[in-house]
Amino acid sequence: MNILVTGATSGFGEQIARDFVATGHTVYGTGRRADRLAALQDELGERFLPVCFDVADSEATVAALTKIDLSAIDVLVNNAGLALGLEPAHRADSTDWQTMIDVNIKGLVTVTHLLLPHMVAKNSGTIINIGSTAGNHPYFGANVYGASKAFVKQFSNNLRADLLGVRVRVTNIEPGLCGGTEFSNVRFKGDDDKAAAVYEQVAYLTAQDISNAVQWVASLPWHVNINSMELMPTAQTYAGLTVARGI
Ligand SMILES: NC(=O)c1ccc[n+]([C@@H]2O[C@H](COP(=O)([O-])OP(=O)(O)OC[C@H]3O[C@@H](n4cnc5c(N)ncnc54)[C@H](OP(=O)(O)O)[C@@H]3O)[C@@H](O)[C@H]2O)c1
Repeated sequence: MNILVTGATSGFGEQIARDFVATGHTVYGTGRRADRLAALQDELGERFLPVCFDVADSEATVAALTKIDLSAIDVLVNNAGLALGLEPAHRADSTDWQTMIDVNIKGLVTVTHLLLPHMVAKNSGTIINIGSTAGNHPYFGANVYGASKAFVKQFSNNLRADLLGVRVRVTNIEPGLCGGTEFSNVRFKGDDDKAAAVYEQVAYLTAQDISNAVQWVASLPWHVNINSMELMPTAQTYAGLTVARGI
């Protein structure tokens, strides 16, 4: 199969790309960091094909992706995304909010819009979106990040509705706390100590766990659609509802 993985320069996307190449598939891997993509190509060989662009820039995204044969893509993994900040909404940075919307929502929509007509035309294909538990459960400081992942969830559901009668599958994978990626380093803008503290003494999910889920979803026969899959480390669970007293 030919797989397009956005955000293949680190974390989940890199592991997903590695695992698809290891099982004999061809991966088009995207990201902004050309050096990372080139290093992966050196390591993985000709079945890893770098496509370098900023997914927040819709013109650049269209220009880069229309250079490849989109009709040949069997699986799209919409993984590129980020959280910025963990402040309550009234103290959050407006630019951070716009960036999360640009990458997590607009970027994912731009890539999907490019790929989907090709999948429908050939009556086959799988779209795997990387959402988050943050799209299902509110938490302190998740404000726009969580809302962007709620968008991914409902967009996935609505694609399923539109694809009635077509052999194109859509899955939303919703990971909880996952370490060993750059997610928290990005969220805390390079404060690596703060990022490391998130994972202290926690048996967190790994990029391999998420890649395993992606590989499984993609390997199922065409008539099986996993609508959504929420994964958490056993050590993570739901917060109760919170009450402020004396206000
Ligand atoms: N780690 C977690 O706990 C967790 C939990 C639930 C969901 N997720 C979601 O999983 C996905 C991957 O996260 P991760 O943990 O693997 O984080 P990561 O290690 O920071 O990887 C993020 C990837 O997205 C790419 N990306 C970010 N902004 C981009 C842009 N403007 N244009 C192009 N590519 C961009 C990055 O590539 P470049 O920097 O090279 O552009 C990188 O390859 C994200 O959607 C995240 O929201 C993560």
